[in-house]
Amino acid sequence: MDAPARPVLSVRDLNVTFGSRFGPVRAVRDVGFDIAPGEVFAIIGESGSGKSSLAMALMGLLPRSAKIAGTMQLAGMDLMSLSAAQRRRICGERVALISQDALASLNPCTTVGYQIAEMLMVHRGVGRRAAMEEAVRLLALTGVPLPHERVNHYPHQFSGGMRQRALIAMSLALQPDLVIADEPTTALDATIKAQILQLLIRLRAELGMSVLIITHDMGVVARMADRMLVMYAGQEVETGTVEDVFAHPAHPYTTALLEAVPRLDAVDRKLHAIPGAPPSPSALPPGCPFHPRCPIAIPRCAAEVPRPVPVGASLAACLRAPHDG
Ligand SMILES: Nc1ncnc2c1ncn2[C@@H]1O[C@H](COP(=O)(O)OP(=O)(O)OP(=O)(O)O)[C@@H](O)[C@H]1O
Ligand SMILES: [Mg+2]
Repeated sequence: MDAPARPVLSVRDLNVTFGSRFGPVRAVRDVGFDIAPGEVFAIIGESGSGKSSLAMALMGLLPRSAKIAGTMQLAGMDLMSLSAAQRRRICGERVALISQDALASLNPCTTVGYQIAEMLMVHRGVGRRAAMEEAVRLLALTGVPLPHERVNHYPHQFSGGMRQRALIAMSLALQPDLVIADEPTTALDATIKAQILQLLIRLRAELGMSVLIITHDMGVVARMADRMLVMYAGQEVETGTVEDVFAHPAHPYTTALLEAVPRLDAVDRKLHAIPGAPPSPSALPPGCPFHPRCPIAIPRCAAEVPRPVPVGASLAACLRAPHDG
């Protein structure tokens, strides 16, 4: 039997803490996961659950005041042993970040084509003419119509969906091992959103890259991902294949998230809102952070912080798991 391929990304016990006027904000607490080559891995959680802090820690893009602890390996290379500047350089070449705001990520004063070409000129020493030709090819690959003309347009001449395509084209220029897409479709309408997700799925299949998709949308996870990690208040609550987690959620928070999603195949089904609100990361309740909102909490849940343990085929951080709902 073949040995399993080395993960593209391996994260263990990752902690990100920001300083604030109200004391330390533990935005990410003891999170760990692996992403295999060619895999689409989703991180899902409510606003403020620490998803972007995690992505920024990987890319070396957190403010200097943020404290990072734990281990992060990119294709076996220990990122924590590098300075933030080294990490930014290596991640800039091997990991691409697609953010939710394409307009803010593109330079308004330079043509879209030149911005893509510049990646190749700066990082790969490619000549200007060859780099512009590659920019046209990348715009075509990402479904931008008339790429020969579009390559000379400025970002404001692109629609929102086209800008997101241009950003994806730019992110592919250096053939990254991993693409991190942080809420890549939040600012787009439903049709364009579907097209961008379709594009990412197609590119993954054609180029064999791994994708880390960050979202608060269970629909995106169901359509795109192979495996998923559910975050709550900076903590990992459940990890597993999308199939297993959707069919047999092991953590009551995951169950609650799934019950809050409308389903076309069950229009009569009642939607359940999760009572209460997520805690502030600077004032977490003791024990399990979800226990004040959990329908099956017992007194022990307020005293012990649960660690992820195998439940069925997944990992779940719940003292009550396995539970029967
Ligand atoms: N630079 C910072 N300084 C202090 N606190 C921060 C900073 N960045 C994020 N935080 C705090 O860390 C927590 C996690 O934020 P983060 O942006 O990672 O969440 P998120 O899951 O990406 O949310 P969203 O879905 O809204 O994008 C929040 O409480 C946020 O206020
Ligand atoms: Mg975010």
